[in-house]
Amino acid sequence: MPNVFGPPHKGAEHVIQGGDPPVPPGASRFGSHEQVVFCQDEASGLRAIIAIYSTALGPSLGGTRFYPYKSEDEALADVLNLSRGMAYKNALAGLDLGGGKAVIIGDPATDKSEAMLRAYGRFVQSLNGRYYTACDVGTFSEDMDIVARESRYVTGRTVAHGGAGDSSILTAFGVFQGMRAAAETVWGAPTLRGRRVGVEGVGKVGHRLVEHLLEDGADIVICDVNQAAVDRVRSAHPEIEVVADAAALIRTELDVYAPCALGGSLNDDTVPVLTAKVVCGAANNQLAHVGVEKSLADRAILYAPDYVVNSGGVIQVADEIGGFNFDRAKARATGIHATTKKIFALAADEGVPPAVAADRLAERRMTEVGRLRGILL
Ligand SMILES: NC(=O)c1ccc[n+]([C@@H]2O[C@H](COP(=O)([O-])OP(=O)(O)OC[C@H]3O[C@@H](n4cnc5c(N)ncnc54)[C@H](O)[C@@H]3O)[C@@H](O)[C@H]2O)c1
Repeated sequence: MPNVFGPPHKGAEHVIQGGDPPVPPGASRFGSHEQVVFCQDEASGLRAIIAIYSTALGPSLGGTRFYPYKSEDEALADVLNLSRGMAYKNALAGLDLGGGKAVIIGDPATDKSEAMLRAYGRFVQSLNGRYYTACDVGTFSEDMDIVARESRYVTGRTVAHGGAGDSSILTAFGVFQGMRAAAETVWGAPTLRGRRVGVEGVGKVGHRLVEHLLEDGADIVICDVNQAAVDRVRSAHPEIEVVADAAALIRTELDVYAPCALGGSLNDDTVPVLTAKVVCGAANNQLAHVGVEKSLADRAILYAPDYVVNSGGVIQVADEIGGFNFDRAKARATGIHATTKKIFALAADEGVPPAVAADRLAERRMTEVGRLRGILL
């Protein structure tokens, strides 16, 4: 793809909607996306892409990823993929929100500035509420406070600024609810008591998940590439077992494997050697490629779809739109238990893996509820 930002020019904005620009017959660069917006502010160095996959259920919501993409193609592919994922996640979280996502191209450690974030905020505002932003990899609540100085359509701000704060709180809680649903399906009771759970990655979400699991009576084994993260968990709970790395964790005797680090941990190498009967964790895009969901089902391993069980975070920040109320957000995140059970039941009924059942349920809600907008008010 040519450099869509073109030669530098000030305050440039190029909005691509529908069939603009022309695409080869039968192919669309933007798949089924509603709108893709390229935003540039030369002076602050901002180069961002905002992708709106769907507003069938309401304004789109998804975080801003600040990442040193090697090319615009790579950034575009990521934002298209992530925004589609948000539409499915928000649909199954029961939110009246569609799916969107944004990427800022650059190194957050060196390129981020107040001017750049505020320039970005003005582009978010220009979409007039079709897209609400939030934190993602490389952006933090403090950044959202700055973006919010230019736009009303910002979530994930700090508590001091009326925001929902750290979304890992309800993300971990939601993963725990999904795991309870999986335990009920496999072992007949919604508890992890006496089960051995392997948590890969004990960062913001993983260490909170460990707390829920300990309270429920599970035995825990962890790993993390960051020794400080391991030490934090071990100093609070010396009884927790630690293994060297993710490869060792997957091979160790487990009842549940909880990937809470990076995506792609379920692949052609790991699924055949996995000992766990349940996979349920926070990481996004756990399945390395299409077909892994079937390999898991063939080995009778119950996979709780990642975007369903990790939706507690988006539930937390979405609540900010109406004025944040933690108890209300937590009550909604508790519903992840029921949603996960519904997906397992549909998967059994329709003879498909849970990942396929989740997609079907999400598409059904987008179609059935989205259709109601056709009734003129
Ligand atoms: N924070 C949220 O609200 C949220 C919401 C939805 C999904 N997620 C996803 O959950 C995952 C964890 O998010 P987080 O906010 O806890 O991130 P984090 O960066 O705080 O924690 C990730 C942890 O994984 C560790 N890690 C990285 N590579 C590893 C490896 N190969 N083996 C073992 N450990 C490794 C890191 O050292 C870190 O401690 C991510 O995939 C994220 O996209 C997070």
